[in-house]
Amino acid sequence: MNVNLEKLVDLFLLKHGTSTDPINIFFAPGRVNLIGEHTDYNYGVVLPCAINYGTFLLARINHTNKIRLSTTNFRYSTTVTIDNSFQPHSNEWVNYPLGVFNEFFKMGISIPALDLLYSGNIPSGAGLSSSASIEMITAFAINDISALNLGMIDLIKMSQRAENSFVGVNCGIMDQFAVGVGQRDHAILLDCKTLEYEQVAINFTDYILIVANTNKKRKLSDSKYNERVLECNKALNILKKYAPIQALGDLSVDDFEQYKTNIEDDILRKRVAHVVYENERVRQATEALKSNDLSSFGLLMYDSHSSLRENYEVTGYELDSLVEAALAQKGVLGSRMTGAGFGGCTVNLVHQSHAEEFLLNVEQVYYRKTGLMPDFYQIEISGGVRRYS
Ligand code: GLA
Repeated sequence: MNVNLEKLVDLFLLKHGTSTDPINIFFAPGRVNLIGEHTDYNYGVVLPCAINYGTFLLARINHTNKIRLSTTNFRYSTTVTIDNSFQPHSNEWVNYPLGVFNEFFKMGISIPALDLLYSGNIPSGAGLSSSASIEMITAFAINDISALNLGMIDLIKMSQRAENSFVGVNCGIMDQFAVGVGQRDHAILLDCKTLEYEQVAINFTDYILIVANTNKKRKLSDSKYNERVLECNKALNILKKYAPIQALGDLSVDDFEQYKTNIEDDILRKRVAHVVYENERVRQATEALKSNDLSSFGLLMYDSHSSLRENYEVTGYELDSLVEAALAQKGVLGSRMTGAGFGGCTVNLVHQSHAEEFLLNVEQVYYRKTGLMPDFYQIEISGGVRRYS
Protein backbone atom coordinates (compact mmCIF):
# COMPACT_ATOMS: atom_id res chain seq x y z
CA MET A 1 0.00 0.00 0.00
CA ASN A 2 1.38 3.30 -1.13
CA VAL A 3 1.14 5.45 1.98
CA ASN A 4 3.99 7.62 3.19
CA LEU A 5 4.00 6.92 6.91
CA GLU A 6 6.73 9.44 7.68
CA LYS A 7 4.58 12.18 6.16
CA LEU A 8 1.60 10.97 8.18
CA VAL A 9 3.61 11.14 11.39
CA ASP A 10 4.75 14.67 10.46
CA LEU A 11 1.17 15.68 9.86
CA PHE A 12 0.12 14.17 13.18
CA LEU A 13 2.85 16.15 14.99
CA LEU A 14 1.84 19.31 13.17
CA LYS A 15 -1.76 18.89 14.33
CA HIS A 16 -1.14 17.70 17.86
CA GLY A 17 2.40 18.71 18.79
CA THR A 18 5.08 16.58 20.42
CA SER A 19 4.61 14.57 23.58
CA THR A 20 6.41 11.90 25.57
CA ASP A 21 3.53 9.52 24.81
CA PRO A 22 4.13 7.21 21.85
CA ILE A 23 2.26 7.45 18.56
CA ASN A 24 0.69 4.03 17.98
CA ILE A 25 0.19 3.05 14.35
CA PHE A 26 -2.42 0.51 13.22
CA PHE A 27 -3.54 -0.84 9.86
CA ALA A 28 -6.89 -2.36 8.83
CA PRO A 29 -7.52 -3.68 5.31
CA GLY A 30 -10.61 -3.39 3.15
CA ARG A 31 -12.14 -6.56 1.73
CA VAL A 32 -13.30 -8.00 -1.53
CA ASN A 33 -16.00 -10.64 -1.49
CA LEU A 34 -15.21 -13.45 -3.94
CA ILE A 35 -18.70 -14.95 -3.76
CA GLY A 36 -21.68 -15.15 -1.36
CA GLU A 37 -23.49 -11.83 -1.73
CA HIS A 38 -26.42 -10.74 0.46
CA THR A 39 -26.24 -14.04 2.31
CA ASP A 40 -24.57 -12.81 5.52
CA TYR A 41 -27.62 -11.14 7.11
CA ASN A 42 -29.58 -14.27 6.18
CA TYR A 43 -27.12 -16.33 8.24
CA GLY A 44 -25.77 -18.11 5.20
CA VAL A 45 -22.17 -18.51 3.98
CA VAL A 46 -19.72 -16.06 2.38
CA LEU A 47 -16.21 -16.19 0.92
CA PRO A 48 -14.48 -12.80 1.28
CA CYS A 49 -10.81 -11.90 1.66
CA ALA A 50 -8.89 -8.96 3.08
CA ILE A 51 -7.04 -6.83 0.54
CA ASN A 52 -3.91 -4.71 0.29
CA TYR A 53 -5.90 -1.48 0.36
CA GLY A 54 -6.89 -0.17 3.75
CA THR A 55 -6.79 2.41 6.50
CA PHE A 56 -3.93 3.57 8.70
CA LEU A 57 -4.65 5.02 12.12
CA LEU A 58 -2.20 7.02 14.20
CA ALA A 59 -3.32 7.20 17.83
CA ARG A 60 -1.83 8.86 20.91
CA ILE A 61 -3.11 9.40 24.44
CA ASN A 62 -3.71 13.14 25.02
CA HIS A 63 -4.46 13.32 28.78
CA THR A 64 -7.59 15.47 28.34
CA ASN A 65 -11.27 14.49 28.44
CA LYS A 66 -11.56 14.76 24.67
CA ILE A 67 -11.02 12.70 21.55
CA ARG A 68 -9.71 14.66 18.59
CA LEU A 69 -10.36 13.00 15.24
CA SER A 70 -9.14 13.88 11.76
CA THR A 71 -8.67 12.23 8.39
CA THR A 72 -6.41 12.88 5.42
CA ASN A 73 -9.08 11.61 3.03
CA PHE A 74 -10.86 14.91 3.02
CA ARG A 75 -10.64 18.13 5.00
CA TYR A 76 -12.24 17.16 8.23
CA SER A 77 -11.46 17.23 11.91
CA THR A 78 -13.61 17.33 14.99
CA THR A 79 -13.34 17.04 18.75
CA VAL A 80 -15.71 15.11 20.97
CA THR A 81 -15.90 15.20 24.75
CA ILE A 82 -15.83 11.89 26.56
CA ASP A 83 -18.83 11.98 28.87
CA ASN A 84 -21.72 9.56 28.85
CA SER A 85 -22.78 8.46 25.40
CA PHE A 86 -22.20 9.71 21.88
CA GLN A 87 -24.96 10.76 19.50
CA PRO A 88 -24.93 10.22 15.71
CA HIS A 89 -23.32 13.17 13.96
CA SER A 90 -24.32 15.00 10.78
CA ASN A 91 -20.93 14.20 9.23
CA GLU A 92 -21.26 10.65 7.95
CA TRP A 93 -17.58 9.73 8.20
CA VAL A 94 -17.27 10.51 11.90
CA ASN A 95 -20.16 8.20 12.72
CA TYR A 96 -17.96 5.16 12.03
CA PRO A 97 -15.53 5.88 14.89
CA LEU A 98 -18.25 7.44 17.09
CA GLY A 99 -20.43 4.36 16.69
CA VAL A 100 -17.54 2.23 17.91
CA PHE A 101 -16.83 4.51 20.91
CA ASN A 102 -20.49 4.18 21.80
CA GLU A 103 -20.30 0.40 21.73
CA PHE A 104 -17.48 0.52 24.30
CA PHE A 105 -19.67 2.76 26.46
CA LYS A 106 -22.58 0.36 26.17
CA MET A 107 -20.29 -2.39 27.43
CA GLY A 108 -19.39 -0.22 30.42
CA ILE A 109 -15.84 0.39 29.18
CA SER A 110 -14.52 3.95 29.35
CA ILE A 111 -12.38 4.82 26.38
CA PRO A 112 -9.12 6.74 26.69
CA ALA A 113 -8.70 10.36 25.57
CA LEU A 114 -6.92 10.10 22.23
CA ASP A 115 -5.70 12.06 19.26
CA LEU A 116 -6.60 10.05 16.17
CA LEU A 117 -5.50 10.56 12.58
CA TYR A 118 -7.02 8.27 9.93
CA SER A 119 -5.65 7.85 6.42
CA GLY A 120 -6.96 5.33 3.92
CA ASN A 121 -6.73 4.45 0.26
CA ILE A 122 -9.91 2.38 -0.13
CA PRO A 123 -12.19 4.25 -2.51
CA SER A 124 -15.30 5.13 -0.50
CA GLY A 125 -18.72 3.90 -1.59
CA ALA A 126 -17.07 1.34 -3.87
CA GLY A 127 -18.15 -1.81 -2.04
CA LEU A 128 -14.66 -2.55 -0.68
CA SER A 129 -15.60 -1.93 2.97
CA SER A 130 -13.89 1.34 3.76
CA SER A 131 -16.47 1.70 6.55
CA ALA A 132 -15.74 -1.68 8.18
CA SER A 133 -12.04 -0.86 7.90
CA ILE A 134 -12.52 2.37 9.91
CA GLU A 135 -14.75 0.68 12.48
CA MET A 136 -12.41 -2.26 13.00
CA ILE A 137 -9.27 -0.15 13.25
CA THR A 138 -10.96 2.04 15.86
CA ALA A 139 -12.10 -0.93 17.94
CA PHE A 140 -8.73 -2.67 17.57
CA ALA A 141 -6.73 0.45 18.54
CA ILE A 142 -8.78 1.14 21.69
CA ASN A 143 -8.58 -2.52 22.70
CA ASP A 144 -4.82 -2.50 22.18
CA ILE A 145 -3.99 0.87 23.79
CA SER A 146 -6.18 0.22 26.83
CA ALA A 147 -5.07 -3.44 27.03
CA LEU A 148 -8.71 -4.53 27.28
CA ASN A 149 -8.05 -8.06 26.04
CA LEU A 150 -11.26 -8.29 24.05
CA GLY A 151 -11.11 -11.05 21.45
CA MET A 152 -11.26 -10.42 17.71
CA ILE A 153 -14.82 -11.77 17.47
CA ASP A 154 -15.92 -9.22 20.12
CA LEU A 155 -14.33 -6.39 18.12
CA ILE A 156 -16.00 -7.66 14.95
CA LYS A 157 -19.44 -7.81 16.58
CA MET A 158 -19.06 -4.36 18.14
CA SER A 159 -18.10 -2.88 14.79
CA GLN A 160 -21.08 -4.45 13.08
CA ARG A 161 -23.39 -3.11 15.81
CA ALA A 162 -21.84 0.35 15.40
CA GLU A 163 -22.73 0.31 11.71
CA ASN A 164 -26.27 -0.97 12.40
CA SER A 165 -27.10 1.52 15.12
CA PHE A 166 -25.03 4.61 14.31
CA VAL A 167 -24.85 4.58 10.52
CA GLY A 168 -28.25 2.96 10.09
CA VAL A 169 -27.22 0.23 7.66
CA ASN A 170 -28.57 -3.16 8.75
CA CYS A 171 -25.51 -4.93 7.38
CA GLY A 172 -24.46 -8.48 8.18
CA ILE A 173 -21.14 -9.46 9.70
CA MET A 174 -19.12 -10.31 6.60
CA ASP A 175 -17.16 -7.08 6.13
CA GLN A 176 -16.03 -6.63 9.72
CA PHE A 177 -15.18 -10.33 9.87
CA ALA A 178 -12.99 -10.27 6.77
CA VAL A 179 -11.22 -7.12 7.98
CA GLY A 180 -10.66 -8.80 11.35
CA VAL A 181 -9.44 -12.29 10.48
CA GLY A 182 -8.11 -11.92 6.92
CA GLN A 183 -4.91 -13.80 6.11
CA ARG A 184 -2.45 -13.34 3.28
CA ASP A 185 -3.38 -15.53 0.26
CA HIS A 186 -6.46 -16.97 1.97
CA ALA A 187 -10.18 -16.46 1.53
CA ILE A 188 -12.43 -16.85 4.56
CA LEU A 189 -15.25 -19.37 4.28
CA LEU A 190 -17.54 -18.00 6.99
CA ASP A 191 -20.75 -19.49 8.29
CA CYS A 192 -22.54 -16.32 9.37
CA LYS A 193 -24.81 -18.23 11.74
CA THR A 194 -22.26 -20.09 13.85
CA LEU A 195 -19.34 -17.74 13.05
CA GLU A 196 -17.24 -20.83 12.39
CA TYR A 197 -14.78 -20.13 9.63
CA GLU A 198 -12.09 -21.75 7.57
CA GLN A 199 -9.10 -20.09 5.93
CA VAL A 200 -9.11 -21.40 2.36
CA ALA A 201 -5.72 -21.21 0.62
CA ILE A 202 -5.88 -19.29 -2.64
CA ASN A 203 -3.62 -20.20 -5.51
CA PHE A 204 -4.71 -18.43 -8.66
CA THR A 205 -1.44 -19.49 -10.43
CA ASP A 206 -1.20 -17.25 -13.53
CA TYR A 207 -4.47 -15.47 -12.83
CA ILE A 208 -4.84 -12.24 -10.94
CA LEU A 209 -7.72 -10.44 -9.27
CA ILE A 210 -8.58 -7.12 -10.82
CA VAL A 211 -11.20 -5.00 -9.13
CA ALA A 212 -12.97 -2.53 -11.43
CA ASN A 213 -14.83 0.46 -10.04
CA THR A 214 -17.96 1.60 -11.90
CA ASN A 215 -17.46 5.01 -10.29
CA LYS A 216 -21.19 5.20 -9.97
CA LYS A 217 -21.71 6.92 -6.67
CA ARG A 218 -24.01 5.37 -4.15
CA LYS A 219 -24.60 5.60 -0.44
CA LEU A 220 -25.41 2.39 1.35
CA SER A 221 -27.71 3.94 3.93
CA ASP A 222 -29.67 5.64 1.14
CA SER A 223 -29.80 2.60 -1.02
CA LYS A 224 -32.18 -0.26 -1.23
CA TYR A 225 -29.98 -2.36 1.05
CA ASN A 226 -32.27 -2.14 4.08
CA GLU A 227 -35.22 -2.83 1.81
CA ARG A 228 -33.64 -6.16 0.77
CA VAL A 229 -33.08 -7.05 4.43
CA LEU A 230 -36.79 -6.41 5.09
CA GLU A 231 -37.89 -8.43 2.08
CA CYS A 232 -35.85 -11.39 3.30
CA ASN A 233 -37.44 -11.13 6.74
CA LYS A 234 -40.92 -11.07 5.21
CA ALA A 235 -40.16 -14.18 3.15
CA LEU A 236 -38.66 -15.87 6.21
CA ASN A 237 -41.83 -15.29 8.21
CA ILE A 238 -43.87 -16.96 5.47
CA LEU A 239 -41.53 -19.94 5.16
CA LYS A 240 -41.31 -20.47 8.91
CA LYS A 241 -44.90 -21.69 8.78
CA TYR A 242 -43.85 -24.58 6.57
CA ALA A 243 -40.23 -25.39 7.31
CA PRO A 244 -38.35 -25.63 10.64
CA ILE A 245 -35.98 -22.74 9.89
CA GLN A 246 -34.76 -19.75 11.84
CA ALA A 247 -33.13 -17.95 8.92
CA LEU A 248 -33.12 -18.18 5.12
CA GLY A 249 -29.61 -19.56 5.42
CA ASP A 250 -31.09 -22.71 6.98
CA LEU A 251 -33.10 -23.45 3.85
CA SER A 252 -31.63 -26.14 1.59
CA VAL A 253 -32.17 -26.11 -2.16
CA ASP A 254 -34.53 -29.09 -1.84
CA ASP A 255 -36.57 -27.41 0.90
CA PHE A 256 -36.81 -24.26 -1.16
CA GLU A 257 -38.04 -26.13 -4.22
CA GLN A 258 -40.59 -27.92 -2.04
CA TYR A 259 -41.93 -24.85 -0.23
CA LYS A 260 -41.44 -22.03 -2.73
CA THR A 261 -45.03 -22.04 -4.02
CA ASN A 262 -46.12 -20.91 -0.56
CA ILE A 263 -44.45 -17.58 -1.25
CA GLU A 264 -47.10 -15.95 -3.39
CA ASP A 265 -45.25 -12.73 -4.05
CA ASP A 266 -42.96 -13.21 -7.11
CA ILE A 267 -40.44 -10.68 -5.87
CA LEU A 268 -40.07 -12.28 -2.45
CA ARG A 269 -39.73 -15.72 -4.10
CA LYS A 270 -36.91 -14.41 -6.30
CA ARG A 271 -35.10 -12.93 -3.29
CA VAL A 272 -35.17 -16.29 -1.52
CA ALA A 273 -34.09 -18.13 -4.67
CA HIS A 274 -31.02 -15.92 -4.79
CA VAL A 275 -30.10 -16.52 -1.16
CA VAL A 276 -30.59 -20.29 -1.31
CA TYR A 277 -28.70 -20.85 -4.57
CA GLU A 278 -25.99 -18.33 -3.65
CA ASN A 279 -25.23 -20.32 -0.51
CA GLU A 280 -24.91 -23.40 -2.68
CA ARG A 281 -22.57 -21.55 -5.04
CA VAL A 282 -20.34 -20.53 -2.14
CA ARG A 283 -19.92 -24.17 -1.15
CA GLN A 284 -19.23 -25.23 -4.73
CA ALA A 285 -16.82 -22.34 -5.28
CA THR A 286 -14.88 -23.34 -2.16
CA GLU A 287 -14.55 -26.88 -3.48
CA ALA A 288 -13.45 -25.53 -6.86
CA LEU A 289 -10.75 -23.42 -5.18
CA LYS A 290 -9.55 -26.34 -3.13
CA SER A 291 -9.15 -28.47 -6.24
CA ASN A 292 -7.62 -25.61 -8.26
CA ASP A 293 -10.53 -25.70 -10.69
CA LEU A 294 -10.48 -22.03 -11.60
CA SER A 295 -12.74 -22.44 -14.63
CA SER A 296 -15.58 -23.74 -12.46
CA PHE A 297 -14.86 -21.01 -9.93
CA GLY A 298 -15.16 -18.38 -12.68
CA LEU A 299 -18.47 -19.79 -13.93
CA LEU A 300 -19.87 -19.64 -10.42
CA MET A 301 -18.82 -16.00 -10.17
CA TYR A 302 -20.81 -15.24 -13.26
CA ASP A 303 -23.85 -17.25 -12.06
CA SER A 304 -23.72 -15.26 -8.86
CA HIS A 305 -23.78 -12.00 -10.80
CA SER A 306 -26.71 -13.17 -12.95
CA SER A 307 -28.70 -14.06 -9.87
CA LEU A 308 -27.90 -10.70 -8.25
CA ARG A 309 -29.14 -9.07 -11.44
CA GLU A 310 -32.26 -11.17 -12.09
CA ASN A 311 -33.39 -12.35 -8.66
CA TYR A 312 -31.97 -9.90 -6.16
CA GLU A 313 -32.00 -6.86 -8.46
CA VAL A 314 -29.05 -5.06 -6.93
CA THR A 315 -26.79 -4.63 -9.97
CA GLY A 316 -27.92 -1.91 -12.41
CA TYR A 317 -26.72 -0.73 -15.81
CA GLU A 318 -23.17 0.23 -14.77
CA LEU A 319 -22.30 -3.00 -12.95
CA ASP A 320 -23.89 -5.13 -15.66
CA SER A 321 -22.03 -3.25 -18.40
CA LEU A 322 -18.74 -3.68 -16.58
CA VAL A 323 -19.26 -7.42 -16.12
CA GLU A 324 -20.32 -7.91 -19.75
CA ALA A 325 -17.32 -5.90 -20.98
CA ALA A 326 -15.00 -8.01 -18.82
CA LEU A 327 -16.40 -11.35 -19.91
CA ALA A 328 -15.95 -10.43 -23.58
CA GLN A 329 -12.16 -10.18 -23.06
CA LYS A 330 -9.57 -12.89 -23.61
CA GLY A 331 -8.19 -14.63 -20.56
CA VAL A 332 -11.12 -13.79 -18.25
CA LEU A 333 -12.47 -16.71 -16.21
CA GLY A 334 -15.03 -14.86 -14.12
CA SER A 335 -16.52 -11.49 -13.30
CA ARG A 336 -19.16 -10.34 -10.84
CA MET A 337 -20.24 -7.43 -8.70
CA THR A 338 -18.82 -7.45 -5.16
CA GLY A 339 -20.32 -5.95 -2.00
CA ALA A 340 -23.80 -4.52 -1.66
CA GLY A 341 -24.25 -3.57 -5.33
CA PHE A 342 -26.25 -0.63 -6.72
CA GLY A 343 -22.90 0.68 -8.05
CA GLY A 344 -19.46 0.07 -6.60
CA CYS A 345 -17.06 -2.53 -7.97
CA THR A 346 -16.76 -5.76 -9.89
CA VAL A 347 -14.15 -8.42 -9.17
CA ASN A 348 -12.52 -10.16 -12.14
CA LEU A 349 -10.31 -13.21 -12.48
CA VAL A 350 -7.94 -12.41 -15.36
CA HIS A 351 -4.93 -14.22 -16.84
CA GLN A 352 -1.93 -12.03 -16.16
CA SER A 353 -0.75 -12.16 -19.77
CA HIS A 354 -4.04 -10.50 -20.81
CA ALA A 355 -4.22 -7.98 -17.98
CA GLU A 356 -3.00 -5.01 -19.97
CA GLU A 357 -5.48 -5.43 -22.86
CA PHE A 358 -8.18 -6.15 -20.29
CA LEU A 359 -7.68 -2.72 -18.75
CA LEU A 360 -7.59 -0.92 -22.10
CA ASN A 361 -10.54 -2.71 -23.67
CA VAL A 362 -12.83 -2.75 -20.65
CA GLU A 363 -12.23 0.94 -20.07
CA GLN A 364 -13.17 1.74 -23.68
CA VAL A 365 -16.26 -0.44 -23.85
CA TYR A 366 -17.50 0.71 -20.44
CA TYR A 367 -16.93 4.38 -21.20
CA ARG A 368 -18.74 4.08 -24.53
CA LYS A 369 -21.75 2.51 -22.82
CA THR A 370 -21.99 4.63 -19.68
CA GLY A 371 -19.99 7.83 -20.18
CA LEU A 372 -18.10 6.96 -16.96
CA MET A 373 -14.40 6.14 -16.66
CA PRO A 374 -13.77 3.06 -14.54
CA ASP A 375 -10.85 2.71 -12.11
CA PHE A 376 -8.91 -0.53 -11.73
CA TYR A 377 -7.05 -1.97 -8.75
CA GLN A 378 -4.87 -5.05 -8.84
CA ILE A 379 -5.72 -6.74 -5.60
CA GLU A 380 -3.47 -8.80 -3.39
CA ILE A 381 -5.05 -10.89 -0.68
CA SER A 382 -3.53 -9.76 2.59
CA GLY A 383 -3.74 -9.90 6.36
CA GLY A 384 -6.36 -8.53 8.74
CA VAL A 385 -6.30 -5.60 11.19
CA ARG A 386 -3.01 -5.27 13.07
CA ARG A 387 -0.63 -3.04 14.99
CA TYR A 388 1.79 -1.58 12.49
CA SER A 389 4.32 -0.11 14.87
C1 GLA B 1 -22.43 -4.92 2.34
C2 GLA B 1 -22.72 -5.30 3.78
C3 GLA B 1 -22.40 -6.77 4.04
C4 GLA B 1 -23.05 -7.67 3.00
C5 GLA B 1 -22.80 -7.16 1.58
C6 GLA B 1 -23.59 -7.92 0.56
O1 GLA B 1 -21.06 -5.00 2.08
O2 GLA B 1 -21.97 -4.49 4.66
O3 GLA B 1 -22.78 -7.12 5.35
O4 GLA B 1 -24.42 -7.82 3.25
O5 GLA B 1 -23.13 -5.79 1.46
O6 GLA B 1 -23.15 -9.23 0.47
